[in-house]
Amino acid sequence: MRLIAVLSVTAVPILFTANSLATEAAVQHNVNNKESLQQHFNNDFKIGVAVNDEIVSGLDPLSAEIITEQFNTITIENAMKAEIVNPLPEQFNFTAADQFIEFGKNNNMFIVGHTLVWHNQTPEWFFKQKNGEQNSPEQQIERMEQHIKLVAGRYRGKVDAWDVLNEVIGDDGNYRQTVWTNVIGSGDEMAKAAFTFAAKYAPNTELYYNDFNAWKPAKRDGIVKMIKMLQREGIKIDGIGIQAHWGLNFPERHYIEEAIDTYAALGLKVMITELDIDVLPFTKEGQVIGQGFMHPQFQEQEFKAYLDPFTHHLPAVIEAKLAARYAELFEIFQAKREKIDRVTFWGLHDGMSWKNDYPIPNRTNYPLLWDRQLQPKAAFKALFN
Ligand code: GLA
Repeated sequence: MRLIAVLSVTAVPILFTANSLATEAAVQHNVNNKESLQQHFNNDFKIGVAVNDEIVSGLDPLSAEIITEQFNTITIENAMKAEIVNPLPEQFNFTAADQFIEFGKNNNMFIVGHTLVWHNQTPEWFFKQKNGEQNSPEQQIERMEQHIKLVAGRYRGKVDAWDVLNEVIGDDGNYRQTVWTNVIGSGDEMAKAAFTFAAKYAPNTELYYNDFNAWKPAKRDGIVKMIKMLQREGIKIDGIGIQAHWGLNFPERHYIEEAIDTYAALGLKVMITELDIDVLPFTKEGQVIGQGFMHPQFQEQEFKAYLDPFTHHLPAVIEAKLAARYAELFEIFQAKREKIDRVTFWGLHDGMSWKNDYPIPNRTNYPLLWDRQLQPKAAFKALFN
């Protein structure tokens, strides 16, 4: 982390430096000296942030301090994903996940576990037999149960809600051809199994479906179809997370409103999850799916200058657009507050955002409310208007 590097080269008493910086940050980030985000949206919805390992382990006390003041719910960015907690059959790693729970409990926050069943960041061994052959559908369902038992079971009574199933519907409204669906052989069976096992190993816990592009009408209708199928089967599902990896120019307001209304009509809690606003070429216009832009050619100088134009700072005019976009979104969310249970940002400050490396690595993006020096941006201030 860049921030940590800066702190540790100051050589002189690090503890003292960190503490005084923390105090300074605490004074400066609450710019209007009146309210925090959680106070401001107290009557509307929970307000949350994704945290990383540095924050929950105590290595980044400045971010931790801002988070405990400003937010009342947290989601863990990576540490509960399958590739981290169980990378190999007999290898387990719950260090950061345990610290996440402790951080949330100590600060009295609503704790969202993320995520039990997803095709990304899941190790290959999950889908194979010992002899290297692909699992049968029955073996794959069994693997799913063991995984959910391992993770949801460990945090039973400690996690308030789980993102159970992540990103299984495509833009056309059908199940995506992911490794989980392919090996199990049926999207419906996969979805039913995921929520059934989650309810079994995480009783009294809210259970959610979470997806990007969930505002797109065809995809939205596919998600609705899956949820109605689960409801018909009597399988517990409590909410839907509309991932908001959005841009300055997309999605249009009416799509967001229609998605919120459509999901709420199912009787589900609606959450805006993973909120960040991309300001860079291409991705401010739409969500890029897949790894195409990871190709090294896009790191060539001639592309770089075009694709990564704000390496030193964000021009004032774009900073203002970003603030206006955030203000518009929160105006929508507040107008729909009866239907929205939670809004969660995907990270605290620009320096920690995945948007610096996806879909194109090594860019300088500005998607969040705090800048790389942990100062609140115009976008933060715009939420209080
Ligand atoms: C998806 C996942 C998140 C995260 C983002 C990128 O939206 O749900 O866990 O990996 O991609 O950071």
